[in-house]
Amino acid sequence: MIFTSPPFPLNRKKKYGNFQGEEYLQWLAAFGPIFRDLLTDDGSIVIELGNSWVSGTPTMSTLGLKALMHFQEANELHLCQEFICHNPARLPGPAQWVTVERIRLKDSYTRLWWLSTSPRPRANNRNVLTPYSSSMKRLLRRGTFNAGRRPSEHVINETAFAKDLGGAIPPSVLSIPNSHSADSYQTYCRKHGTTFHPARMPSALPDFFIRFLTVPRDIVLDPFGGSNTTGGCCRGAEPPVGDD
Ligand SMILES: C[S@@+](CC[C@H](N)C(=O)[O-])C[C@H]1O[C@@H](n2cnc3c(N)ncnc32)[C@H](O)[C@@H]1O
Repeated sequence: MIFTSPPFPLNRKKKYGNFQGEEYLQWLAAFGPIFRDLLTDDGSIVIELGNSWVSGTPTMSTLGLKALMHFQEANELHLCQEFICHNPARLPGPAQWVTVERIRLKDSYTRLWWLSTSPRPRANNRNVLTPYSSSMKRLLRRGTFNAGRRPSEHVINETAFAKDLGGAIPPSVLSIPNSHSADSYQTYCRKHGTTFHPARMPSALPDFFIRFLTVPRDIVLDPFGGSNTTGGCCRGAEPPVGDD
């Protein structure tokens, strides 16, 4: 799997540099052939992109979406599924529109596109089950379900959801707070006087896709590794604390 969060097409340049406009579309798509060469037939590419805004106006840029579409089309990839990563701990922004003029809501998610060269790459949602809700646990104890036709026209039979399958299948909206406070990466940086990476992702994000789309001993690459959050997850641990 290639799991990565490339520099976003931001208006404001980060220290590590990022292209804008048409140049960004071409820059991102040009990595496609390299990624395709590295992938196995059942491998996946997962790309995370955050939102950006049109400079000086309270309107969103469509560049991120265009960049994902161009990446997919130019490299003849299948879109297996789109995910939203919601950060409930996100600070209100863009400040001018959200906290000063109060005319927009806080921008609190990033988008992930799960792409592949074949329509059926390796994936197993049994590896990412979440604990059942308390109402589902009650239902499992009862052993019967409120069966019948739903307004959506789905017909649910009495035993459809009455079997304990080990957990709930997660939705494609992942809710992951990005609020590292004193994790081992920060402890390491403080100890060594190193500046924190400005765009670090929460380790729960790569961890989810590693469990969902790979099996132990598969190879995972994050070409825009930054602080190496992805690598840390692959080790089954956070980045090392210590001198090595
Ligand atoms: C959005 S950040 C990714 C952060 C990373 N996911 C983490 O948790 O630390 C993008 C990263 O890509 C790096 N980068 C930018 N251009 C690159 C290039 N051409 N090759 C490799 N890395 C690049 C930047 O230095 C930055 O660390």
